[in-house]
Formats: sequence, C-alpha cells, structure tokens
Amino acid sequence: MFVLPEFPVSRPRRLRLTTAIRDLVRDVSLSPSDLVLPVFVSEALERPAPIESLPGHYYYPPTSKELVDHIGRALELGVKAFLLFGVPKVKDEAASRAYASDGPVQEAIRHIRKEIGWEPVIAADLCICGYASHGHCGVPKKCRRGVCIDNDATLEIYRRIAVSQADAGADIIAPSGMMDGQVKAIREALDGEGFSDVSIMSYSVKYASSFYGPFRDVMDSAPRWGDRRSYQMDPGNTHDILKEALLDVAEGADILMVKPALPYLDVIYRLHTTITTHPLAAYNVSGEYMMVKLLAEGGYGDYNSLMLEVLTSIKRAGADIIITYHALDAAKLLRG
Ligand code: PBG
Repeated sequence: MFVLPEFPVSRPRRLRLTTAIRDLVRDVSLSPSDLVLPVFVSEALERPAPIESLPGHYYYPPTSKELVDHIGRALELGVKAFLLFGVPKVKDEAASRAYASDGPVQEAIRHIRKEIGWEPVIAADLCICGYASHGHCGVPKKCRRGVCIDNDATLEIYRRIAVSQADAGADIIAPSGMMDGQVKAIREALDGEGFSDVSIMSYSVKYASSFYGPFRDVMDSAPRWGDRRSYQMDPGNTHDILKEALLDVAEGADILMVKPALPYLDVIYRLHTTITTHPLAAYNVSGEYMMVKLLAEGGYGDYNSLMLEVLTSIKRAGADIIITYHALDAAKLLRG
C-alpha cells in the first residue's frame, strides 16, 4: 500500500482553504444534464393539480399546455430527460389504459413531440401497478399457494405496453415491474415492430422498499392484497445484485438502474465497479425526497444543502444518471 507522508508534511486542510481551491480539486460533479425529472400525467384531469404527497409536483393532463410549459422550463434549466408515469381515469383488471394508444402516457408523449419535438429525452415507465385494479406489477392467478403473480402472462402485456409507448415517440422504455425476462420480451417486441432504435433502461436492481410510500399514494398503486416481495428484491440478499444486473445486460438492457438510491449506495458502487460497459442510473425515490423535504420543513436543515449532499453521494457512489424529484430545484441551484 501507498504510504502518505506524515503530519506536518501532510496537511489535507491546505486544499480546503478557499472555495476556488475546493472547486479545483473536487472530482465528483453534478450537472443538470445528469438528472431525470419524473412527470405524472393524469387523464382524469382537465387542469393541472398539485400532488399532495409530493410537494412541488403536479399531475398534468396529457395534452395540456401546462405540461409542455413544464417540460420547456426544465429544458431551459438544462434538465433534458424525463420519466413519464400515467394515471388512468379508470383502473381495470387488464390494466388496459397502460397499452391503449390513447392512454395517458401515449397521449402525453405524442403531445410533447408535436409541440416541442425531439429535444427532450422521454423515458416511459413500463408497469401495470398504476393501471390495474389489483395494484400489482404482474397479473394475479390462482396457484397452489393461493394467489400468485403470473410472470410469463405479464410479459405479454409488457410487450404491448412497450410497443404502444415506442409508437407514441418514447426514446427509452423503462420496465419497473421486476418480472423475470422482461427486458428480453420488450427488446423482442420493440425490434419486431421496427423500434430497434428505442432504448431500454431497466429497473434491474429494485428492492421491496418502504421508501415508495409517497409514490404509491400519488399513483394509487399500492397492491390491494399482499405485497411485492415475491418480485421485488430482498434488501438483505446480495447474491441477487449481480445476478439481476447481468441478466438484464444479457437480455439487452442499454441502461441499468438501482432503486432506491440512498439506502443502496453500496449496491450502486458495486455495479459501478463491476459493470463498466453500461451507464448506471439511480432512482432517488419519493420517500427519499420527502425525507429531505420534511427535515427542511421542520427546521432541521437547509433544503438546498441537504439536497446537494444527497445527490452528490449518489453521484460519488457511481451513478451516471440520477432520477430525482429534486431535478428542477437542483438544476436551478447548479446554474447559480
Ligand atoms: C412500480 C414503481 C414504483 C416506483 C416507480 N414505479 C414502486 C412500487 O410501487 O413498487 C417508485 C418510485 C418512487 O417511490 O418514487 N412499478
């Protein structure tokens, strides 16, 4: 091991003396172009409505001027990528609004392409939990243990969703349901329909986490019975980290993702060091956002510095891309 000269020759504080020196030697940087802004589009609304469980965020009607303005403002701040989530007017057993050509996400993407064009990078979240009356990410079926989630039947629905989102103009399809083989099924479906230029950002390493609470409120997507532990990952299992990531690589994922971010910085670091061929994204989820919001609101810390420290930690762990509800606040700050 390399041995440092001892004090008083070594004085690490020398390089912390002024802002300019600190800036000069800093090696972890955050830029608005690393950030992805989640956007919620609801077909149940005529006008935008504030989202109570995610202060600072709104539901936008898919074909509204306000949605276009929102995307436009983000672009001006240097945030160029968006992850769209759809809220249907009615949920049904088949999750039919998830793949309808006039579904909320499909309509929103078409509208953005028509009004703004192809400058924004648009990723579409692909799942059925927000569209299905049962609230699960896969199709329930009777099985010997009672009711379980039918992996392979779900893949058929995922194929349809992917094609409908690509057809509407998505750049990136982001499957979040944690079904086995989802990336392969989606790649096949996209290529089969002539969408070989559409990327897949897979929620590869996604945990059964308690930090999704606010989001499930936003989407009304909590499972109506049971939980998601038979498909999302167990926080205490490290074998699955590389397994899930490598399977997605083999199935054709273009970008890998770890979710949530903060309680899994070690996982981000592991994938950053082991898989250097693929960009790595981290999802700074709704519960992490609310932690910062509530700390600041309670007077226990400064919102901007809490936010920057969190985002820097995710970057330092090795994420290239951060999906975060702080995106606009952070971009404003970073641009000074
Ligand atoms: C589910 C999905 C979840 C999130 C995005 N897509 C979590 C879940 O309900 O399991 C969470 C995002 C967040 O908390 O910000 N398909």
